[in-house]
Amino acid sequence: MTFILAIDQGTTSTRAILFDANMQAVCSAQQEFPQIYPQAGWVEHDPEEIWSSTLNVCQKVLADHGISTDDLAGIGITNQRETTLIWDKATGKAIHNAIVWQDRRTASICDTLRDAGHEDMVRAQTGLLLDPYFSGTKVKWILDQVPGSRERAAAGDLVFGTVDSFLIWRLTGGKSHVTDATNAARTLIYDIHAGAWSDDICALLDIPQVMLPEVKDSAADFGVTDPAIFGGAVPILGVAGDQQAATVGQACFEPGMLKSTYGTGCFALLNTGDAPVLSQNRMLTTIAYQLDGTPTYALEGSIFIAGAAVQWLRDGLGIIQNASETGDLAPKADPGQDVLLVPAFTGLGAPYWKPDCQGAVFGLTRNSGPAEFARAALQSVAYQTRDLWEAMRADWGGDAQVSLRVDGGMSASDWAMQSLSDLLGADVDRPVILETTALGAAWLAGMKAGIYPDQAGFAKTWALERQFTPDMAEEKREAAYARWKRAVASVIDV
Ligand code: G3P
Repeated sequence: MTFILAIDQGTTSTRAILFDANMQAVCSAQQEFPQIYPQAGWVEHDPEEIWSSTLNVCQKVLADHGISTDDLAGIGITNQRETTLIWDKATGKAIHNAIVWQDRRTASICDTLRDAGHEDMVRAQTGLLLDPYFSGTKVKWILDQVPGSRERAAAGDLVFGTVDSFLIWRLTGGKSHVTDATNAARTLIYDIHAGAWSDDICALLDIPQVMLPEVKDSAADFGVTDPAIFGGAVPILGVAGDQQAATVGQACFEPGMLKSTYGTGCFALLNTGDAPVLSQNRMLTTIAYQLDGTPTYALEGSIFIAGAAVQWLRDGLGIIQNASETGDLAPKADPGQDVLLVPAFTGLGAPYWKPDCQGAVFGLTRNSGPAEFARAALQSVAYQTRDLWEAMRADWGGDAQVSLRVDGGMSASDWAMQSLSDLLGADVDRPVILETTALGAAWLAGMKAGIYPDQAGFAKTWALERQFTPDMAEEKREAAYARWKRAVASVIDV
Protein backbone atom coordinates (compact mmCIF):
# COMPACT_ATOMS: atom_id res chain seq x y z
CA MET A 1 0.00 0.00 0.00
CA THR A 2 2.52 2.54 -1.17
CA PHE A 3 0.68 4.65 -3.72
CA ILE A 4 -1.72 7.56 -3.39
CA LEU A 5 -4.25 8.20 -6.13
CA ALA A 6 -4.96 11.92 -6.60
CA ILE A 7 -8.10 12.90 -8.50
CA ASP A 8 -8.13 16.45 -9.88
CA GLN A 9 -11.60 17.19 -11.20
CA GLY A 10 -11.10 20.56 -12.95
CA THR A 11 -13.22 22.92 -15.00
CA THR A 12 -12.32 21.57 -18.43
CA SER A 13 -10.83 18.16 -17.69
CA THR A 14 -10.51 15.43 -15.12
CA ARG A 15 -7.12 14.02 -14.22
CA ALA A 16 -5.84 11.16 -12.12
CA ILE A 17 -2.24 11.15 -10.93
CA LEU A 18 -0.56 8.31 -9.13
CA PHE A 19 2.03 9.29 -6.52
CA ASP A 20 4.53 6.79 -5.14
CA ALA A 21 5.79 6.48 -1.57
CA ASN A 22 8.32 9.27 -2.26
CA MET A 23 5.57 11.67 -3.39
CA GLN A 24 6.74 11.39 -6.99
CA ALA A 25 4.08 11.45 -9.71
CA VAL A 26 4.60 8.18 -11.56
CA CYS A 27 1.60 7.95 -13.86
CA SER A 28 -1.22 10.22 -14.98
CA ALA A 29 -4.26 10.27 -17.22
CA GLN A 30 -6.46 13.13 -18.37
CA GLN A 31 -9.83 13.41 -20.04
CA GLU A 32 -11.45 16.60 -21.29
CA PHE A 33 -15.22 16.88 -21.18
CA PRO A 34 -17.73 19.17 -22.88
CA GLN A 35 -18.65 22.61 -21.62
CA ILE A 36 -22.34 23.39 -21.96
CA TYR A 37 -23.36 27.00 -22.66
CA PRO A 38 -27.19 27.08 -22.68
CA GLN A 39 -27.31 30.91 -22.82
CA ALA A 40 -24.88 33.81 -22.77
CA GLY A 41 -23.23 33.86 -19.34
CA TRP A 42 -24.46 30.38 -18.39
CA VAL A 43 -22.00 27.46 -18.01
CA GLU A 44 -22.98 23.90 -17.13
CA HIS A 45 -21.40 20.44 -16.91
CA ASP A 46 -23.16 17.13 -17.36
CA PRO A 47 -22.79 15.38 -13.96
CA GLU A 48 -22.48 12.02 -15.74
CA GLU A 49 -19.51 13.36 -17.73
CA ILE A 50 -17.88 14.47 -14.48
CA TRP A 51 -18.42 11.00 -13.09
CA SER A 52 -17.49 8.93 -16.16
CA SER A 53 -14.34 10.96 -16.82
CA THR A 54 -13.32 10.42 -13.20
CA LEU A 55 -13.85 6.68 -13.45
CA ASN A 56 -12.00 6.48 -16.77
CA VAL A 57 -8.87 8.33 -15.66
CA CYS A 58 -8.65 6.44 -12.36
CA GLN A 59 -9.02 3.08 -14.05
CA LYS A 60 -6.49 4.09 -16.69
CA VAL A 61 -3.69 5.03 -14.25
CA LEU A 62 -4.19 1.85 -12.24
CA ALA A 63 -4.06 -0.22 -15.43
CA ASP A 64 -1.17 1.73 -17.00
CA HIS A 65 0.95 1.38 -13.89
CA GLY A 66 -0.11 -2.21 -13.41
CA ILE A 67 -1.34 -1.88 -9.84
CA SER A 68 -4.54 -2.73 -8.01
CA THR A 69 -6.45 -1.16 -5.16
CA ASP A 70 -4.34 -3.29 -2.76
CA ASP A 71 -1.42 -1.02 -3.65
CA LEU A 72 -3.29 2.17 -2.77
CA ALA A 73 -2.93 3.65 0.70
CA GLY A 74 -5.58 6.23 -0.04
CA ILE A 75 -7.27 8.65 -2.42
CA GLY A 76 -6.97 12.44 -2.40
CA ILE A 77 -9.57 14.54 -4.21
CA THR A 78 -9.20 18.09 -5.41
CA ASN A 79 -11.80 19.83 -7.51
CA GLN A 80 -13.11 22.87 -9.32
CA ARG A 81 -14.76 24.79 -6.51
CA GLU A 82 -18.22 26.36 -6.13
CA THR A 83 -19.69 24.28 -9.00
CA THR A 84 -23.07 23.15 -7.71
CA LEU A 85 -24.89 19.82 -7.88
CA ILE A 86 -28.14 18.59 -6.37
CA TRP A 87 -28.89 14.89 -6.64
CA ASP A 88 -31.43 12.30 -5.63
CA LYS A 89 -30.29 10.25 -2.64
CA ALA A 90 -32.12 7.16 -3.85
CA THR A 91 -30.69 7.06 -7.38
CA GLY A 92 -27.55 9.23 -7.17
CA LYS A 93 -28.81 11.07 -10.29
CA ALA A 94 -28.50 14.84 -10.39
CA ILE A 95 -31.75 16.75 -10.90
CA HIS A 96 -30.07 19.43 -13.03
CA ASN A 97 -26.77 19.85 -14.82
CA ALA A 98 -23.96 21.07 -12.57
CA ILE A 99 -23.97 24.87 -12.55
CA VAL A 100 -20.34 25.85 -13.01
CA TRP A 101 -18.52 28.47 -10.94
CA GLN A 102 -18.22 30.73 -14.01
CA ASP A 103 -21.99 30.83 -14.49
CA ARG A 104 -23.54 34.31 -14.06
CA ARG A 105 -27.24 33.38 -14.11
CA THR A 106 -27.79 34.34 -10.49
CA ALA A 107 -26.51 37.92 -10.87
CA SER A 108 -30.00 39.30 -10.33
CA ILE A 109 -30.50 37.21 -7.16
CA CYS A 110 -27.25 38.71 -5.86
CA ASP A 111 -28.38 42.24 -6.81
CA THR A 112 -31.68 41.77 -4.97
CA LEU A 113 -29.92 40.51 -1.84
CA ARG A 114 -27.42 43.37 -1.99
CA ASP A 115 -30.15 45.97 -2.49
CA ALA A 116 -31.96 44.53 0.53
CA GLY A 117 -28.82 45.22 2.60
CA HIS A 118 -27.63 41.63 3.21
CA GLU A 119 -24.08 41.85 1.89
CA ASP A 120 -22.41 42.91 5.15
CA MET A 121 -23.93 39.96 7.06
CA VAL A 122 -23.01 37.47 4.31
CA ARG A 123 -19.50 38.87 4.13
CA ALA A 124 -19.02 38.82 7.89
CA GLN A 125 -20.01 35.15 8.15
CA THR A 126 -18.60 33.67 4.94
CA GLY A 127 -15.74 36.02 3.99
CA LEU A 128 -17.25 36.14 0.48
CA LEU A 129 -19.20 38.73 -1.51
CA LEU A 130 -22.62 38.58 -3.09
CA ASP A 131 -21.49 37.38 -6.49
CA PRO A 132 -22.93 34.60 -8.68
CA TYR A 133 -19.51 32.89 -8.51
CA PHE A 134 -20.36 31.08 -5.26
CA SER A 135 -22.65 28.07 -4.78
CA GLY A 136 -25.37 29.48 -2.53
CA THR A 137 -27.38 31.41 -5.10
CA LYS A 138 -26.92 28.56 -7.60
CA VAL A 139 -28.54 26.16 -5.10
CA LYS A 140 -31.38 28.62 -4.63
CA TRP A 141 -31.79 28.92 -8.41
CA ILE A 142 -32.11 25.14 -8.88
CA LEU A 143 -34.54 24.82 -5.98
CA ASP A 144 -36.59 27.71 -7.43
CA GLN A 145 -36.59 26.31 -10.97
CA VAL A 146 -36.99 22.54 -10.62
CA PRO A 147 -40.60 21.89 -9.60
CA GLY A 148 -40.99 20.21 -6.23
CA SER A 149 -37.25 20.17 -5.52
CA ARG A 150 -37.31 22.38 -2.43
CA GLU A 151 -39.94 20.16 -0.81
CA ARG A 152 -38.03 17.01 -1.75
CA ALA A 153 -34.83 18.51 -0.34
CA ALA A 154 -36.62 19.44 2.90
CA ALA A 155 -37.96 15.86 3.11
CA GLY A 156 -34.38 14.56 2.91
CA ASP A 157 -34.70 13.08 -0.59
CA LEU A 158 -32.37 15.49 -2.42
CA VAL A 159 -28.89 16.55 -1.36
CA PHE A 160 -26.49 19.31 -2.35
CA GLY A 161 -22.78 19.08 -2.86
CA THR A 162 -19.84 20.65 -4.61
CA VAL A 163 -17.94 18.36 -7.00
CA ASP A 164 -15.87 16.72 -4.23
CA SER A 165 -19.05 15.80 -2.40
CA PHE A 166 -20.72 14.42 -5.51
CA LEU A 167 -17.68 12.27 -6.38
CA ILE A 168 -17.38 10.95 -2.83
CA TRP A 169 -21.07 10.08 -2.84
CA ARG A 170 -20.64 8.12 -6.05
CA LEU A 171 -17.30 6.55 -5.08
CA THR A 172 -18.66 5.32 -1.75
CA GLY A 173 -21.83 3.96 -3.33
CA GLY A 174 -23.95 6.62 -1.62
CA LYS A 175 -22.56 5.96 1.87
CA SER A 176 -20.84 9.33 2.50
CA HIS A 177 -22.39 12.75 2.12
CA VAL A 178 -19.41 14.86 3.15
CA THR A 179 -17.18 17.73 2.08
CA ASP A 180 -14.13 19.45 3.52
CA ALA A 181 -13.87 22.90 5.10
CA THR A 182 -12.13 24.47 2.06
CA ASN A 183 -14.95 23.51 -0.27
CA ALA A 184 -17.61 24.45 2.27
CA ALA A 185 -15.93 27.87 2.55
CA ARG A 186 -16.81 28.58 -1.11
CA THR A 187 -20.53 27.93 -0.89
CA LEU A 188 -21.70 31.29 0.55
CA ILE A 189 -23.69 29.38 3.18
CA TYR A 190 -20.81 28.30 5.48
CA ASP A 191 -19.79 30.38 8.48
CA ILE A 192 -15.99 30.22 8.33
CA HIS A 193 -15.63 31.52 11.89
CA ALA A 194 -18.13 29.17 13.54
CA GLY A 195 -17.15 26.24 11.31
CA ALA A 196 -20.82 25.47 10.62
CA TRP A 197 -23.50 26.02 8.00
CA SER A 198 -25.07 29.43 8.51
CA ASP A 199 -28.66 29.41 9.78
CA ASP A 200 -29.09 33.04 8.68
CA ILE A 201 -27.92 32.57 5.11
CA CYS A 202 -29.66 29.23 4.58
CA ALA A 203 -32.88 30.94 5.72
CA LEU A 204 -32.22 33.91 3.43
CA LEU A 205 -31.74 31.64 0.40
CA ASP A 206 -34.46 29.20 1.47
CA ILE A 207 -32.05 26.24 1.48
CA PRO A 208 -33.11 23.34 3.75
CA GLN A 209 -30.09 22.49 5.91
CA VAL A 210 -30.91 18.79 5.83
CA MET A 211 -29.61 18.71 2.25
CA LEU A 212 -26.09 19.92 3.19
CA PRO A 213 -23.06 17.63 3.58
CA GLU A 214 -21.13 17.04 6.78
CA VAL A 215 -18.01 19.23 6.84
CA LYS A 216 -14.67 17.57 7.70
CA ASP A 217 -11.00 18.51 7.95
CA SER A 218 -9.03 18.46 4.69
CA ALA A 219 -7.26 15.30 5.88
CA ALA A 220 -9.92 13.01 7.33
CA ASP A 221 -11.87 9.81 6.82
CA PHE A 222 -14.25 10.64 4.00
CA GLY A 223 -15.40 7.06 3.44
CA VAL A 224 -14.15 4.06 1.47
CA THR A 225 -14.75 3.27 -2.17
CA ASP A 226 -17.41 0.75 -3.06
CA PRO A 227 -15.46 -2.39 -4.12
CA ALA A 228 -17.69 -2.62 -7.20
CA ILE A 229 -15.99 0.51 -8.59
CA PHE A 230 -12.24 -0.19 -8.61
CA GLY A 231 -12.27 -3.80 -7.41
CA GLY A 232 -11.40 -3.05 -3.79
CA ALA A 233 -12.16 -0.70 -0.91
CA VAL A 234 -9.83 2.31 -0.79
CA PRO A 235 -10.10 5.01 1.87
CA ILE A 236 -10.62 8.59 0.72
CA LEU A 237 -8.37 10.53 3.08
CA GLY A 238 -7.72 13.95 1.59
CA VAL A 239 -10.04 16.59 0.08
CA ALA A 240 -9.46 20.23 -0.79
CA GLY A 241 -10.71 22.71 -3.37
CA ASP A 242 -8.19 22.99 -6.17
CA GLN A 243 -6.81 26.39 -5.21
CA GLN A 244 -6.44 25.37 -1.60
CA ALA A 245 -4.81 22.11 -2.65
CA ALA A 246 -2.32 24.16 -4.70
CA THR A 247 -1.65 26.32 -1.63
CA VAL A 248 -0.87 23.12 0.28
CA GLY A 249 1.14 21.69 -2.62
CA GLN A 250 3.20 24.90 -2.71
CA ALA A 251 3.78 24.45 1.05
CA CYS A 252 2.47 27.96 1.76
CA PHE A 253 2.12 27.03 5.42
CA GLU A 254 3.46 30.23 6.99
CA PRO A 255 1.45 33.43 7.36
CA GLY A 256 2.46 35.85 4.61
CA MET A 257 3.23 33.15 2.03
CA LEU A 258 1.52 33.62 -1.30
CA LYS A 259 0.85 31.44 -4.35
CA SER A 260 -0.82 32.06 -7.68
CA THR A 261 -2.18 29.25 -9.86
CA TYR A 262 -2.72 29.74 -13.59
CA GLY A 263 -5.43 27.37 -14.81
CA THR A 264 -8.70 28.35 -16.50
CA GLY A 265 -8.68 31.30 -14.15
CA CYS A 266 -6.01 32.62 -11.82
CA PHE A 267 -6.34 32.33 -8.10
CA ALA A 268 -3.91 33.90 -5.66
CA LEU A 269 -4.02 32.82 -2.01
CA LEU A 270 -2.16 34.52 0.83
CA ASN A 271 -1.87 32.50 4.03
CA THR A 272 -3.02 34.65 6.98
CA GLY A 273 -2.59 31.99 9.66
CA ASP A 274 -5.20 31.29 12.30
CA ALA A 275 -6.72 34.75 11.96
CA PRO A 276 -9.24 35.46 9.21
CA VAL A 277 -8.50 38.88 7.68
CA LEU A 278 -11.44 40.87 6.39
CA SER A 279 -10.27 42.59 3.22
CA GLN A 280 -10.59 46.33 2.77
CA ASN A 281 -9.90 45.83 -0.94
CA ARG A 282 -12.57 43.38 -2.06
CA MET A 283 -10.48 40.25 -1.70
CA LEU A 284 -12.15 37.14 -0.30
CA THR A 285 -11.51 35.61 3.09
CA THR A 286 -11.41 31.85 2.90
CA ILE A 287 -10.05 28.68 4.51
CA ALA A 288 -6.68 27.63 3.07
CA TYR A 289 -6.80 24.21 4.74
CA GLN A 290 -8.15 22.67 7.93
CA LEU A 291 -6.07 20.14 9.85
CA ASP A 292 -6.84 18.63 13.27
CA GLY A 293 -9.97 20.74 13.56
CA THR A 294 -8.04 24.01 13.14
CA PRO A 295 -8.66 26.17 10.09
CA THR A 296 -5.83 28.16 8.54
CA TYR A 297 -7.25 31.18 6.76
CA ALA A 298 -6.28 32.92 3.56
CA LEU A 299 -7.00 36.04 1.59
CA GLU A 300 -7.92 35.08 -1.95
CA GLY A 301 -8.01 37.00 -5.18
CA SER A 302 -10.00 35.23 -7.90
CA ILE A 303 -9.62 36.08 -11.58
CA PHE A 304 -11.97 34.24 -13.90
CA ILE A 305 -10.01 34.38 -17.15
CA ALA A 306 -6.30 33.42 -17.33
CA GLY A 307 -5.64 30.25 -19.36
CA ALA A 308 -9.14 30.81 -20.76
CA ALA A 309 -7.77 33.89 -22.60
CA VAL A 310 -5.31 31.59 -24.37
CA GLN A 311 -8.13 29.13 -25.08
CA TRP A 312 -9.98 32.04 -26.68
CA LEU A 313 -7.00 32.69 -28.98
CA ARG A 314 -7.14 29.02 -29.97
CA ASP A 315 -10.86 28.25 -30.08
CA GLY A 316 -12.44 31.69 -30.54
CA LEU A 317 -10.02 33.43 -32.89
CA GLY A 318 -8.27 30.35 -34.28
CA ILE A 319 -4.89 32.14 -34.37
CA ILE A 320 -3.00 29.35 -32.59
CA GLN A 321 -3.30 25.56 -32.71
CA ASN A 322 -1.98 24.80 -29.23
CA ALA A 323 -1.99 26.87 -26.05
CA SER A 324 1.77 26.39 -25.71
CA GLU A 325 2.38 28.40 -28.94
CA THR A 326 1.38 31.60 -27.14
CA GLY A 327 4.67 31.88 -25.25
CA ASP A 328 6.62 31.62 -28.54
CA LEU A 329 4.38 34.05 -30.36
CA ALA A 330 4.26 36.79 -27.71
CA PRO A 331 7.95 37.81 -27.95
CA LYS A 332 7.49 38.30 -31.72
CA ALA A 333 4.92 41.06 -31.10
CA ASP A 334 5.75 44.49 -32.52
CA PRO A 335 7.27 46.51 -29.65
CA GLY A 336 5.83 49.64 -31.25
CA GLN A 337 2.26 48.46 -30.75
CA ASP A 338 0.42 48.42 -27.47
CA VAL A 339 -2.48 46.07 -27.94
CA LEU A 340 -4.17 45.60 -24.56
CA LEU A 341 -6.83 43.02 -23.76
CA VAL A 342 -9.28 43.26 -20.87
CA PRO A 343 -10.56 39.66 -20.82
CA ALA A 344 -13.82 40.30 -18.99
CA PHE A 345 -15.43 37.38 -20.87
CA THR A 346 -17.45 36.32 -17.83
CA GLY A 347 -17.48 39.68 -16.11
CA LEU A 348 -14.64 40.70 -13.83
CA GLY A 349 -13.76 39.00 -10.56
CA ALA A 350 -11.51 40.42 -7.84
CA PRO A 351 -11.10 43.21 -7.02
CA TYR A 352 -13.81 44.64 -9.30
CA TRP A 353 -16.64 42.07 -8.97
CA LYS A 354 -18.59 43.20 -12.01
CA PRO A 355 -20.51 40.14 -13.24
CA ASP A 356 -22.10 41.96 -16.16
CA CYS A 357 -19.24 43.80 -17.82
CA GLN A 358 -17.70 42.51 -21.03
CA GLY A 359 -14.22 42.30 -22.51
CA ALA A 360 -12.46 44.76 -24.81
CA VAL A 361 -9.31 45.16 -26.89
CA PHE A 362 -7.50 48.51 -27.00
CA GLY A 363 -4.71 49.87 -29.20
CA LEU A 364 -5.51 48.02 -32.44
CA THR A 365 -3.74 49.10 -35.64
CA ARG A 366 -3.79 47.68 -39.15
CA ASN A 367 -0.65 45.75 -38.24
CA SER A 368 -2.12 44.06 -35.18
CA GLY A 369 -2.03 40.32 -35.62
CA PRO A 370 -1.65 37.01 -33.82
CA ALA A 371 1.62 37.93 -32.06
CA GLU A 372 0.17 41.15 -30.64
CA PHE A 373 -2.92 39.26 -29.46
CA ALA A 374 -0.79 36.54 -27.87
CA ARG A 375 1.25 39.14 -25.99
CA ALA A 376 -1.91 40.98 -24.93
CA ALA A 377 -3.48 37.76 -23.63
CA LEU A 378 -0.45 36.85 -21.51
CA GLN A 379 -0.01 40.41 -20.27
CA SER A 380 -3.69 40.59 -19.30
CA VAL A 381 -3.01 37.77 -16.86
CA ALA A 382 -0.03 39.64 -15.43
CA TYR A 383 -2.02 42.87 -15.04
CA GLN A 384 -4.84 41.03 -13.29
CA THR A 385 -2.32 39.38 -10.96
CA ARG A 386 -0.92 42.83 -10.22
CA ASP A 387 -4.43 43.95 -9.23
CA LEU A 388 -4.57 41.10 -6.70
CA TRP A 389 -1.03 41.66 -5.54
CA GLU A 390 -1.71 45.33 -4.78
CA ALA A 391 -4.95 44.57 -2.95
CA MET A 392 -3.52 41.74 -0.86
CA ARG A 393 -0.45 43.60 0.18
CA ALA A 394 -2.61 46.55 1.19
CA ASP A 395 -4.77 44.22 3.31
CA TRP A 396 -1.94 42.29 4.86
CA GLY A 397 0.59 45.04 5.51
CA GLY A 398 4.34 44.81 5.13
CA ASP A 399 4.91 41.20 6.10
CA ALA A 400 3.65 39.52 2.95
CA GLN A 401 6.11 37.36 1.09
CA VAL A 402 7.99 39.52 -1.40
CA SER A 403 7.96 36.82 -4.03
CA LEU A 404 5.12 34.91 -5.61
CA ARG A 405 5.07 31.10 -5.92
CA VAL A 406 3.48 30.16 -9.24
CA ASP A 407 2.05 26.97 -10.70
CA GLY A 408 -0.50 25.76 -13.24
CA GLY A 409 -0.31 25.46 -17.04
CA MET A 410 0.70 29.01 -17.92
CA SER A 411 3.51 29.05 -15.37
CA ALA A 412 5.45 26.74 -17.71
CA SER A 413 5.91 29.67 -20.12
CA ASP A 414 9.17 31.52 -19.42
CA TRP A 415 7.94 34.55 -21.36
CA ALA A 416 4.69 34.75 -19.38
CA MET A 417 6.49 34.43 -16.04
CA GLN A 418 9.13 37.05 -16.95
CA SER A 419 6.37 39.39 -18.04
CA LEU A 420 4.58 38.71 -14.74
CA SER A 421 7.71 39.55 -12.77
CA ASP A 422 8.25 42.72 -14.83
CA LEU A 423 4.71 44.00 -14.37
CA LEU A 424 4.55 43.07 -10.67
CA GLY A 425 7.99 44.43 -9.90
CA ALA A 426 8.55 41.33 -7.77
CA ASP A 427 10.30 37.98 -7.90
CA VAL A 428 8.32 35.07 -9.30
CA ASP A 429 9.34 31.65 -7.97
CA ARG A 430 8.58 28.59 -10.09
CA PRO A 431 8.96 25.27 -8.29
CA VAL A 432 10.34 22.05 -9.75
CA ILE A 433 6.91 20.45 -9.39
CA LEU A 434 4.24 22.39 -11.25
CA GLU A 435 1.58 19.77 -10.44
CA THR A 436 1.03 21.40 -7.08
CA THR A 437 -2.75 20.98 -7.03
CA ALA A 438 -2.60 17.20 -7.35
CA LEU A 439 0.43 17.06 -5.08
CA GLY A 440 -1.47 18.96 -2.38
CA ALA A 441 -4.38 16.53 -2.53
CA ALA A 442 -2.01 13.56 -2.54
CA TRP A 443 -0.06 14.91 0.44
CA LEU A 444 -3.25 15.44 2.47
CA ALA A 445 -4.27 11.81 1.83
CA GLY A 446 -0.77 10.36 2.21
CA MET A 447 -0.12 12.25 5.44
CA LYS A 448 -3.43 11.00 6.83
CA ALA A 449 -2.52 7.46 5.69
CA GLY A 450 0.80 7.81 7.52
CA ILE A 451 3.02 7.25 4.47
CA TYR A 452 4.00 10.90 3.81
CA PRO A 453 5.88 13.36 6.04
CA ASP A 454 4.19 15.82 8.37
CA GLN A 455 3.67 19.47 7.45
CA ALA A 456 7.21 20.59 8.33
CA GLY A 457 8.76 17.62 6.54
CA PHE A 458 6.63 18.22 3.46
CA ALA A 459 7.53 21.95 3.39
CA LYS A 460 11.21 20.98 3.18
CA THR A 461 10.58 19.11 -0.06
CA TRP A 462 9.52 22.28 -1.92
CA ALA A 463 12.27 23.08 -4.45
CA LEU A 464 12.81 26.11 -6.68
CA GLU A 465 13.26 25.43 -10.39
CA ARG A 466 13.68 29.05 -11.54
CA GLN A 467 13.29 32.52 -10.13
CA PHE A 468 12.20 35.31 -12.48
CA THR A 469 13.34 38.77 -11.38
CA PRO A 470 11.96 42.10 -12.63
CA ASP A 471 13.70 43.49 -15.71
CA MET A 472 11.66 46.58 -16.52
CA ALA A 473 12.21 50.22 -15.58
CA GLU A 474 9.95 51.35 -12.76
CA GLU A 475 8.57 54.24 -14.82
CA LYS A 476 7.62 51.96 -17.71
CA ARG A 477 6.00 49.45 -15.35
CA GLU A 478 3.89 52.06 -13.62
CA ALA A 479 2.85 53.70 -16.92
CA ALA A 480 1.77 50.32 -18.29
CA TYR A 481 -0.19 49.48 -15.15
CA ALA A 482 -1.87 52.91 -15.15
CA ARG A 483 -3.00 52.24 -18.74
CA TRP A 484 -4.44 48.88 -17.66
CA LYS A 485 -6.39 50.56 -14.85
CA ARG A 486 -7.81 53.11 -17.31
CA ALA A 487 -8.80 50.32 -19.70
CA VAL A 488 -10.58 48.39 -16.92
CA ALA A 489 -12.36 51.54 -15.78
CA SER A 490 -13.65 52.14 -19.29
CA VAL A 491 -14.87 48.53 -19.62
CA ILE A 492 -16.77 48.87 -16.35
CA ASP A 493 -18.26 52.20 -17.49
CA VAL A 494 -19.54 51.05 -20.89
O1 G3P B 1 -12.96 28.68 -8.13
C1 G3P B 1 -12.85 28.01 -9.35
C2 G3P B 1 -11.61 27.19 -9.40
O2 G3P B 1 -11.61 26.26 -8.38
C3 G3P B 1 -11.43 26.57 -10.77
O3 G3P B 1 -10.15 26.20 -10.94
O4 G3P B 1 -8.23 25.23 -12.12
O5 G3P B 1 -10.51 24.67 -12.88
O6 G3P B 1 -9.54 26.97 -13.21
P1 G3P B 1 -9.59 25.73 -12.40
